[in-house]
Amino acid sequence: MLYIGIDLGTSAVKLLMMDGTGKICKIVSKEYPLYFPHPGWSEQNPCDWYEKTLEGLKELTADCNRAEVAGISFGGQMHGLVALDENDEVIRPAILWNDGRTGEETDYLNQVIGKEKLSAYTANIAFAGFTAPKILWMKNNEPENFARIRKIMLPKDYLAYCLSGSFCTDLSDASGMLLLDVKNRCWSEAMMAICGITKEQLPDLYESYEVVGTLKPELAEQLGFSKDVKIIAGAGDNAAAAVGTGTVGEGSCNISLGTSGTIFISSANFRVDDHNALHSFDHADGSYHLMGCMLSAASCNKWWNEEILSTNDYQAEQAGIGALGENPVFFLPYLMGERSPHNDPDVRGCFLGMSMDTTRAQMTQAVLEGVAFGLRDSLEVARSLGITIECSKICGGGAKSPLWRKIIANVMDLELEVPENEEGPALGGAMLAAVGCGEYPDVKSAVSRIVKVVERISPDPELVAKYEVQYRKFRNMYPAVKELFR
Ligand code: XUL
Repeated sequence: MLYIGIDLGTSAVKLLMMDGTGKICKIVSKEYPLYFPHPGWSEQNPCDWYEKTLEGLKELTADCNRAEVAGISFGGQMHGLVALDENDEVIRPAILWNDGRTGEETDYLNQVIGKEKLSAYTANIAFAGFTAPKILWMKNNEPENFARIRKIMLPKDYLAYCLSGSFCTDLSDASGMLLLDVKNRCWSEAMMAICGITKEQLPDLYESYEVVGTLKPELAEQLGFSKDVKIIAGAGDNAAAAVGTGTVGEGSCNISLGTSGTIFISSANFRVDDHNALHSFDHADGSYHLMGCMLSAASCNKWWNEEILSTNDYQAEQAGIGALGENPVFFLPYLMGERSPHNDPDVRGCFLGMSMDTTRAQMTQAVLEGVAFGLRDSLEVARSLGITIECSKICGGGAKSPLWRKIIANVMDLELEVPENEEGPALGGAMLAAVGCGEYPDVKSAVSRIVKVVERISPDPELVAKYEVQYRKFRNMYPAVKELFR
């Protein structure tokens, strides 16, 4: 049988088809626009997601026996607010995970409701990109739109709804709404009351590997699929990537270098850090995880190369980079503000330390290093909890660069394992589909059968020591500049 994983990303939807043994048959990618209607805002049109997904499904299955497609599942960009009215029309463009408009609502939640209460209700505090502050923003700024809301869903759940008619979400993605009682895996009545919404407006909750419905008959016919194709709940893209890279069980780690940069630590038991600096979320394998998320990771490199240097040849730019660990130039990667650990939607990116002899290559290097230092900030929070991490998987578009992988291994002092496939969320989605269809008894079994490591990058103690000095300098920079952006 064939299983399809749909990774609904920020720049494109990636669709992956694998067979029952985990062999990847084909990958297709379709781009759609991202809108920044005001500085710090970030929106997309859910109809674009669906249209491109249908195009992608047709292309993905063009050369296979379509009747063999058994299940479809997802890894989706997290936290986005999709609101539908009584006719199932999208009320306004989706407000995305990296949108920083909710400063006032986030402050209200953290300071007036209070972080202790939020943490008790949800295991998390409010971050600007989370869904609950966006609901409050709509209530405060677009009351007519707010009054029309009948269904609230996350980006990938909009696809599941269009494909199956099932109004559902999964626990890993729901964790990022600040509406879920993460520990007890149910909606929080208190948070619904705070946001002025009811349970009827929220989707039904499923584990990521559970079946939520079947493909609508008219779509099955249009796509040439069987009428029995199962739709499986899927996961937030980071939890799906964790499945796709084999980051399950106690204390495994995955670093994702996509538009965002995340460090994901799987945990058999529920845990929260004292300051809620890391997100405490449910995992797609039925357990829990901690996660730090930086808002701009590979997107910093894309911005620097494509917008500033006007080149698509990232490799050629990196080829000019000289000695590592001694760059006088630093880059603060806060192009969209920052989530973990600073929770500051106002801060912006900076280059620091330039002189008349600063080179283009040093600035390119500073961008790569700045993202690694930003990830290290979240790793430090995990280390402060007594969590020992010596090894991590790495995935996402940025992970294709051997130089960037080396910088990350040495800045973070971690052994990095490169999985055979860096399309973590799409593969994780396909694996969840296979589990949902009964091909594997559980997520862990699918991981042990399918995920393979093809390369290891070990940190070099001399370079680690040099980067330690550089990181200490980097750490002093955010506190020095943050007030400039208020
Ligand atoms: C995680 C987060 C991002 C998005 C990217 O909390 O906001 O990683 O999921 O798609």
